[in-house]
Formats: sequence, structure tokens, C-alpha cells
Amino acid sequence: MKEKISALRENFRARLSAAQTPEQLEEVRVSFLGKKGPVSDLMAELRNVEGEQKARLGQLINEAKAEFAKAITAAGETLRQKALEAQIAHAKPFNPTLPAHLNCGSFHPITLIQREVESIFASMGFTVEDYPEVVDDYHCFEALNIPKHHPARDMQDTYYLDNGQLLKTHTSAAQNHIMRKYGAPLRAIFPGRCFRNEATDACHENTFFQMEGIMIDEDISISNLIYFMKKMLSEVFRRDIRVRLRPGFFPFVEPGFELDISCLICGGDGCPSCKNSGWLELCPCGMIHPNVLKAGGIDTDKYTGFAFGLGLTRLAMMKYGIGDIRDFNAGQLKSLSQFESR
Ligand code: DAH
Repeated sequence: MKEKISALRENFRARLSAAQTPEQLEEVRVSFLGKKGPVSDLMAELRNVEGEQKARLGQLINEAKAEFAKAITAAGETLRQKALEAQIAHAKPFNPTLPAHLNCGSFHPITLIQREVESIFASMGFTVEDYPEVVDDYHCFEALNIPKHHPARDMQDTYYLDNGQLLKTHTSAAQNHIMRKYGAPLRAIFPGRCFRNEATDACHENTFFQMEGIMIDEDISISNLIYFMKKMLSEVFRRDIRVRLRPGFFPFVEPGFELDISCLICGGDGCPSCKNSGWLELCPCGMIHPNVLKAGGIDTDKYTGFAFGLGLTRLAMMKYGIGDIRDFNAGQLKSLSQFESR
């Protein structure tokens, strides 16, 4: 049996030195130390040996077993080291003078236009306010002079939640809260994501962005509204933009208007983009209805104000020449990566 053990050791060393890959090494481990391997066989044979010899041979077998395990671990380590060295040898030389990897994503066009409009209004003394996307009926409708069962509610198909709240259908929903928060005089803009339950096509989305603005002070008139809108739009489009107002109905303003801008393509001469009218519809607005001011706790004998609900998504489409509104939420990295990254 003693000879058998030394033969096994020799055999093991030969097989171990032939193993060149982790897989081959594993084979050696299984074939020598596995349950059906020669070490287990020797242990079984040992049962037939008696007395002192049993102890001596048992020790020899255990020593061989320990030697095998240790050698396999060491060989594994050597193989790993060799693989690492080979990897390093084949790697491209490291050049510390190369510029850092700058592939760092880009801003969404809505973020860009939102920041731009915010900074223009901020420079004219407007604060920028945030408001939740889940709102209650009072703020979205009631406080805006849209009482229950008023036909104006049919204008917007609303996503109602089980708890009676709703996803805000327009940024006007924040007007009451902001009037109550600051009182008059007041200049604020509040951008936000809006939701309407409607079928989508190139011009309609169920999720889009608006930028609402209100200004309340003594003697505020329509000419103030025109001045601020013209100024903001001329800065956004980096050219002089002409605006015009047409009558429009919204329960929370009186009078209410649709604000059009001179066509960006033809400059007002008429082209297919503006259906030959020379004008593009951009932003509903008006003088804040006294009921809305009252609901906001504003003294209507002293103060008046204007409000506008700029379609931020629409503005981004115009500024960046994006033809399909669905592109904004489509996660198309190729088109998004064209926008500024810093
Ligand atoms: N909230 C209106 C909508 O989304 C838009 C609007 C119209 C906002 C007139 C205003 C306004 O502030 O004065 O349909």
C-alpha cells in the first residue's frame, strides 16, 4: 500500500504539471480528490489494515491528500497570475496625456428650453415655482373659475385617481397656491408636466410640458402682457418676434386671448408652415379673472394681473425644428444626443 501511495503521488505530480488551463486543473482535482478517486479508494482499503500500520498508512494517505489540495490551489493561483500577465502584455499602453472620456449624455430639449425661459423670466424679476403633478379638483378647476358641471371641464380629458385626486391637466392648477403663498404684488412662473387623456399623434401627446406665468400688481394691463411675452420670445428665438392677440375663451381669464407669433420660417410673408397666414399660434393668455384673484386672496379693488400658459413642448418643437411631439417621450438616444451635454 505504501508503494501505491508513492505511485499515486508521482502520478499526481505528472498530471498536475501537464494542466495548463483552469478547466484541466479542475479535472485533476476531481480525478484525484473526488469521491470516486484514488484517495477515497485508499481510504476504503485502509479499513482492512490492522493496528499500528493502519495509523501510519492513514497518516501517509492524509499527507498525500493535503499535498494534492495545496498543490492544486497553488497551481490555480499561478494560472490566474499568468492570465493576468498575458492580459497586461496585450493591453494598449496607458497614455496619461489623453483627454478624459467625454461621452457624458445630453440634456433633454425640454430641460434646455425650460432653463432658458426660466432664466429670461428670472432676469425680469419673476420667481420660479414648483408644484406637484398630482393635484385636487379645487386647484385644477374650482379655484380657476371652472365650477362643477361647467362645460369648460369637457375641454380637458382628465386622468382621475382612485382617491379623487387627478393628474394636473394644466399648470394653471398652481395659480391659486402661488397667489396664497405670496400675495400681491407678484411675478412668478411655474413650469410643469401636464397630463391629458387623449389619443396621441404627431401634434398631441398625453404627457407634455407647460410654463405658466402670472404677474399681479397695481395697474397691470394687456400691454404689460404683450411686452413680457415679446421680450421672452425674442430672446428665445434670438431675433425680433412680432406678436398678435386674438380673442380666446378660458374661464380663468377675462378677457382671454390666443397669442400668435410671426412665422419663424417665412417671417410673416406666408408659407406652408403657417398655412400662408404669416402667424403661428403659440400661447393662450389673458387678464386674470376677478373670481380667480379673489379665490387666491388678492384684493381685486387694488390689483389686476395677467396670466399665460405657454406650451413648453410646443416651444421646443419650434425652436429645435422637432416635427413630431411623440419624439420627446420616445427615449430615442440618437436624436437626444444631438442636444447640449453641458
Ligand atoms: N391652462 C390653459 C390650458 O392648458 C392654458 C391657459 C390659457 C393658461 C389662458 C393661462 C391663460 O394662464 O391665461 O388649456
